[in-house]
Amino acid sequence: MPNTIIVGSQWGDEGKAKVIDYLTKQSDLIIRYHGGANAGHTVVVDGDKFIFHMVPSGIMYPGKKCVIGNGVVFDAEQFLVEVDELKEKGISVEGRLFISDLAHLVLPYHKLLDKARESDSKNTKIGTTGRGIGPAYADKVTRVGIRTGDLLDWDLFTEKLKKAFAEKKFLVEQMHKATFDLDFEETLKQFEEITKRIAPYICDTADYLFNALQAKENLLFEGAQGTFLDIDHGTYPFVTSSNTLSGSVCAGAGVGPATIDHVVGIVKAYTTRVGNGPFPTEQLNEDGELLRKEGAEFGATTGRPRRCGWFDSVVVRKAIALNGFTRMALTKLDVLNVFKEIKICTHYEVDGVKRESFPTTLKDIEKCVPIYETLPGWECDISQCNSYEELPENARKYIKRIQELCYSIPALIVSVGPDRSQTIEVEPLT
Ligand code: GDP
Ligand code: IMO
Ligand code: MG
Repeated sequence: MPNTIIVGSQWGDEGKAKVIDYLTKQSDLIIRYHGGANAGHTVVVDGDKFIFHMVPSGIMYPGKKCVIGNGVVFDAEQFLVEVDELKEKGISVEGRLFISDLAHLVLPYHKLLDKARESDSKNTKIGTTGRGIGPAYADKVTRVGIRTGDLLDWDLFTEKLKKAFAEKKFLVEQMHKATFDLDFEETLKQFEEITKRIAPYICDTADYLFNALQAKENLLFEGAQGTFLDIDHGTYPFVTSSNTLSGSVCAGAGVGPATIDHVVGIVKAYTTRVGNGPFPTEQLNEDGELLRKEGAEFGATTGRPRRCGWFDSVVVRKAIALNGFTRMALTKLDVLNVFKEIKICTHYEVDGVKRESFPTTLKDIEKCVPIYETLPGWECDISQCNSYEELPENARKYIKRIQELCYSIPALIVSVGPDRSQTIEVEPLT
């Protein structure tokens, strides 16, 4: 399979992991390149469900190699929980899981700081996952971060950790007036144990990927979050702290742009969002509740109910422009089975004037009134359909209309259920 990037086109939870798992069969290496354990990536194989936060979703396939790139903020505790869970399920990761020595560590004080910032009444509440993502990236950018490679030089790690403890204690207690209940010696001991276990996985992953490319191996890049959670292009400040777009693969994994053959946008057949921030097509009514119920829309990381609304083509058009999608994978189409009528947002109106593009400022987004088109539903179960032709006519019309509104990007996949088997391949990657 060509070297491919998978990116969420909305606000995350589009079903990226399901598509990653499906495409893993045709790939050699699956690479996470940004984000951290804020991601909740669900894979279902023969009814058996696994939620990944740190380990790439391709690991379920025996023999496939998985890489955690330098752009990831690495949560070692969560990583080991997943490795143990995989082992319990009889899935061995030995010799096929690699962590970049340049990936920054998420340490316990990052999580403490994340929560302290969120509960500080002086701050705007983002509704973060509490996984320490923002503070860990902040340390990286201010050049006081600690990387996985530092664990292999224990004196250096101890010195860096000591400095960080003093600074974070000050921030938590003095700035946020919260309790700093971490003990330095205990944390040091905890990371001594963690290091023993993760050291064998740490290496120069950029070098590893370069050699894999030389050997003509196929790379599948696993995006996390979604386009509108991107730190630059998303609905700032209601975003995550990394670049979530396809373009961040190069820096986050250490590969050149010419490596990439395809960018697949994962497009949920409706829209969801977790946490705070603008969401033009949100339905705070029975339709929204029905979408949540039918789509089981509860966060895979925090369990929070996801906010739900109709498909927004303005959002997806912007995602196409920002990521350069060459294909789209339409997911969760089956969730719409129960609707008599389905709405699609074709454009916005601002003071009665048509607007086709997504604004860049919160103020302008607030002024946008979504304009909908109503399509007839299909009102039957499509979760067992095996081919595009088997889909009811109204479902095919819905897909066609979405494509028309989205620059006619060809569909790679239509997903009609959470299981690996509930996948209709429309136009394979060549
Ligand atoms: P990700 O973060 O983009 O990987 O998505 P999540 O795993 O957070 O959320 C997607 C949810 O939808 C998971 O529970 C998946 O098992 C489920 N899912 C994925 N594709 C489909 C689909 O086509 N139909 C249905 N009903 N569920 C799906
Ligand atoms: P996947 O990869 C959905 C959201 C949080 C919050 C904002 C900032 O499963 O699609 P953070 O903890 O990153 O500082 O939180 O971003 N968020 C996600 N929403 N899916 C995700 O990941 C998310 N990762 C972060 O809810 O609004
Ligand atoms: Mg998710």
